[in-house]
Amino acid sequence: MLNVALPKGRLGNKAYKLFEKIGFDCNEMLDDSRKLVFENKEKGIRYFLVKPSDVPVYVLHGAADVGVVGKDILLESNASVYELLDLGFGKCKICVAAHKDFHDNTNTTLRVATKFLNIASNYYNSINRNIEIIKLNGSIELAPITGLSDVIVDIVETGNTLMENNLKIIHEIIPISARLIANKSSFQFKNDIIEKLKKSCEEALNDKNI
Ligand code: PRP
Repeated sequence: MLNVALPKGRLGNKAYKLFEKIGFDCNEMLDDSRKLVFENKEKGIRYFLVKPSDVPVYVLHGAADVGVVGKDILLESNASVYELLDLGFGKCKICVAAHKDFHDNTNTTLRVATKFLNIASNYYNSINRNIEIIKLNGSIELAPITGLSDVIVDIVETGNTLMENNLKIIHEIIPISARLIANKSSFQFKNDIIEKLKKSCEEALNDKNI
């Protein structure tokens, strides 16, 4: 059995559609249920539905052999797993954004609101900028509007949330998309099936007819 951790939600649905196309279908997945484990014994596949930020945890500890996760979560987790493939969907970017009228005063400590603590710290370390991180869990855009922070480090997809809240992009830190990841031991011991999965995904993503 190959154990696959999929993130609950849109990204997980897209990933499952891809796996279904390459022969790792599992009809149970299409049922509207509260189940978290779905398997197709014939195809030798078992899917776990997990919270997106927990995908690297399941894969790191080998509870799942492979997983699908956004590059943002992967970077933030710092998990020692193999990143096998850029799946190309779930595209967005991690940006620094601030109020439209914001001007940086480099003599002061910059207050940065974010849920991406590592990504934000690494970025500001790389440019030697003194910051104070304010950890939030959501609605990050509210921080500069209310005066809680000077800037935010957050996901930008369409840009609508920024626009509707009078915020602007100051800097694009990194482009993001979904990645196929593997547990390091699983990659060794289940190499044939994991390589097959990777190759089939690559072919399916390249084939515009699929
Ligand atoms: C994400 C992100 C931004 C928004 C960006 O939030 O944190 O707020 O999407 O998307 P856009 O550029 O298309 O407007 P999410 O909806 O995940 O909710 P959150 O505020 O709880 O993080």
